[in-house]
Amino acid sequence: MSNNNLLAQPLNLPCGATLPNRICKAAMTEGIADAQLRATERHVRLYRRWAEGGAGLLISGNVMIDRRVLERPGNVAIDPATPDAEAMTRLRNWARAGTSNGNHLWMQINHAGRQSPWYVTGQPLAPSEVQLNLMANYRRPRALREEEILDFIQRYANVARTAREAGFTGVQVHGAHGYLISSFLSPVTNRRSDAWGGSLENRARFLLEVVKATRAAVGPDYPVGLKLNSADFQKGGFSNEECLQVVQWLNGSGLDLLEVSGGTYEQPRLLGYTGEASTAVDATQASVTSSSTQRREAYFLEYAMAIRKVAKMPLMVTGGFRTRAGMEQALAEGSVDVIGLARPLCTDADVPKRLLAGSDAKLPDYEHRLRLGNGVFAPTTKVFLFKLVNLLGQQGWYYQQIARMGDGLKPVLERGVFGAFVRYLWDEYTTAWRMRRARAALRG
Ligand SMILES: Cc1cc2nc3c(=O)[nH]c(=O)nc-3n(C[C@H](O)[C@H](O)[C@H](O)COP(=O)(O)O)c2cc1C
Repeated sequence: MSNNNLLAQPLNLPCGATLPNRICKAAMTEGIADAQLRATERHVRLYRRWAEGGAGLLISGNVMIDRRVLERPGNVAIDPATPDAEAMTRLRNWARAGTSNGNHLWMQINHAGRQSPWYVTGQPLAPSEVQLNLMANYRRPRALREEEILDFIQRYANVARTAREAGFTGVQVHGAHGYLISSFLSPVTNRRSDAWGGSLENRARFLLEVVKATRAAVGPDYPVGLKLNSADFQKGGFSNEECLQVVQWLNGSGLDLLEVSGGTYEQPRLLGYTGEASTAVDATQASVTSSSTQRREAYFLEYAMAIRKVAKMPLMVTGGFRTRAGMEQALAEGSVDVIGLARPLCTDADVPKRLLAGSDAKLPDYEHRLRLGNGVFAPTTKVFLFKLVNLLGQQGWYYQQIARMGDGLKPVLERGVFGAFVRYLWDEYTTAWRMRRARAALRG
């Protein structure tokens, strides 16, 4: 047990709201919406459980602004931006359960952009027609017309207004991980020659306009956060220097919390994979530790420290925090204000409660076990199928724990990566198929 209690200290945000402590459950896509892309009882159960776990801030999985371009089957979408009474009641129930412990629940708002798989999307939409070449899962996107860009800016804002009306206590704009906003920032995926592409100022315009419109929609006294890549870690992509410049432009935009993350589907650094791999599948086999990661369990902390020097808003870092000592150190040295945790809360919702009570026990960490042959194949294999199973199986394993919590069940820790992979394929495709049928029936 430690006497140090920095994690338990409240944080006053610029808008006037207060987070009761410094632990945040970071966004994790749930995939448990109904066929009309509305929140369900499973959201209510899941978020009540996470609220009981003690984190001061819960951030929802990404809620989509465009029902045509989902991140995965089972996303909640708020489109049209003013939902009908039933959809609104469901959002209210979700918000009530997710704030039941006096904690905050913020809605993460997103557009998947080009990272929308073929089985949920007729046609991905993106700044430019740059296709994501990953496991043949993504179609060539269509480049957005200017009137669509302007419409999307308003959609982020309108969804934020809806979140406030439904009882969510804040919103987070998703500007990271290669989705729409992030793909505008990157010269690799944004090849436009109009006011929305080219110079950094033009590439950042979409993000800055979204944040401005969102703030205007919810008013000055409501938390607005942003998740931003410290870098894309991709040759020619959004760089750390560019990130530092964008943060300075964001300083005047009234953000309450900037969450630092990094990477895209092609370079999934958000999950701690490093190396020079050119695709996500290769990256799963690359080293999971760089020298700075070895020193610091949280792999974006070094970037956060550089961002801290130019940022005027509170900062949060997510990715790799697994010990209380690592979290306390990050808070004590002033690198961050809030600690983001994701995967550990899929298998043990009470992690925050124990940390706040002073427990020094290491957090659950299944990532290193979740590899074919318990890691036997992982570091050396060049076999595409094994790599594929490791990547999707691991992600699927966490999806499955989240869905089980939504059903009020305990996690299945003994499920291996291959079992999780098979289950992942089954769940994704059958959910997508059920949703397509339900939508067709509605149209009929
Ligand atoms: C199952 C799963 C779903 C995720 N979904 C989202 C998401 O919807 N939005 C987002 O910004 N990040 C998402 N992430 C990334 C996490 O928020 C977080 O950045 C990442 O898992 C690293 O944190 P950790 O080491 O504490 O797990 C997801 C991660 C996992 C494992």
